[in-house]
Amino acid sequence: MKMQLYAYTGTGNSLWVARQLASELKEAPLQFMPALSRDLKVEADRVGLIFPVHIWGLPVRVIQFISHLVVKPGTSFFAMAVNAGQPAATLLQLKKLMSSRGSTLALGYSIVLPSNYIPWGGPGPIETQQRLFGKAQEKIKWIVQEILRGERKKVERGPFWQNLPFSLIYKLSFRSVRTMDKKFEVDDKCNSCGICSKVCPAENIKMVNEKPTWLHRCEQCLACIQWCPQEAIQYGKKTVQYPRYHHPEVVLKDLLEQAENSR
Ligand SMILES: Cc1cc2nc3c(=O)[nH]c(=O)nc-3n(C[C@H](O)[C@H](O)[C@H](O)COP(=O)(O)O)c2cc1C
Ligand code: SF4
Ligand code: SF4
Repeated sequence: MKMQLYAYTGTGNSLWVARQLASELKEAPLQFMPALSRDLKVEADRVGLIFPVHIWGLPVRVIQFISHLVVKPGTSFFAMAVNAGQPAATLLQLKKLMSSRGSTLALGYSIVLPSNYIPWGGPGPIETQQRLFGKAQEKIKWIVQEILRGERKKVERGPFWQNLPFSLIYKLSFRSVRTMDKKFEVDDKCNSCGICSKVCPAENIKMVNEKPTWLHRCEQCLACIQWCPQEAIQYGKKTVQYPRYHHPEVVLKDLLEQAENSR
């Protein structure tokens, strides 16, 4: 059976999960989820998608990707929605999107890791982060067994109080994701290194007069603010006081590779 994994990430959590999966599944090559504007034919029998939850739903990139994916009849999918404790109805959304395209989401799991949503604060204490990494590793091990057994199950979802209201917020905010970058600002710590522009998977940052300018086709992955080595990018008034985060086993080179592969 031929497997293929696709990952999308802002701060490395989903990439780390995808790498854990790839190493447990052995024969499952891992690629970054490209930004597709035309169809992509995939020959695999089973396709795994690993991505972060954004605003209680699927990131724009994942929707675009699924919408352009062409698979063989009988190909089945599994997904890992990496989140900070509120997966809401993201995997149900994915299941519906797939069935509207004639595909099957056989398995869908929530993996909780530290939050990268810096406008609401930092990722939490190191001990808590390490506990989450440990729990995720354990969960990935039993998920791998279910994948290998070829199981089909109900996808995981958050409690009722999360799903209904937050799915509504998702729907209302989805169209404005592209322009949410209007809130990014760069402060005088910026040394014009250009890293923010290079890590952006959406080619949404242009250096103008040696400073980043956002072009309003943002995916809200938050790679730019989180990977700026000077912590010079802010989003609203509070981010200046919050620590930056990326997964400790993921490095800048990985994000640069993702951005390269997105083009
Ligand atoms: C724009 C945005 C929205 C987010 N919304 C949610 C959410 O609705 N629920 C949740 O649990 N985590 C949310 N998060 C947190 C991420 O899903 C979580 O930190 C994830 O592990 C990040 O994965 P990554 O490092 O692969 O990008 C959000 C993060 C971003 C950037
Ligand atoms: S990564 Fe930070 S320091 Fe480098 S150009 Fe961007 S904002 Fe400036
Ligand atoms: S501008 Fe920043 S938040 Fe928006 S897609 Fe690029 S890296 Fe992600």
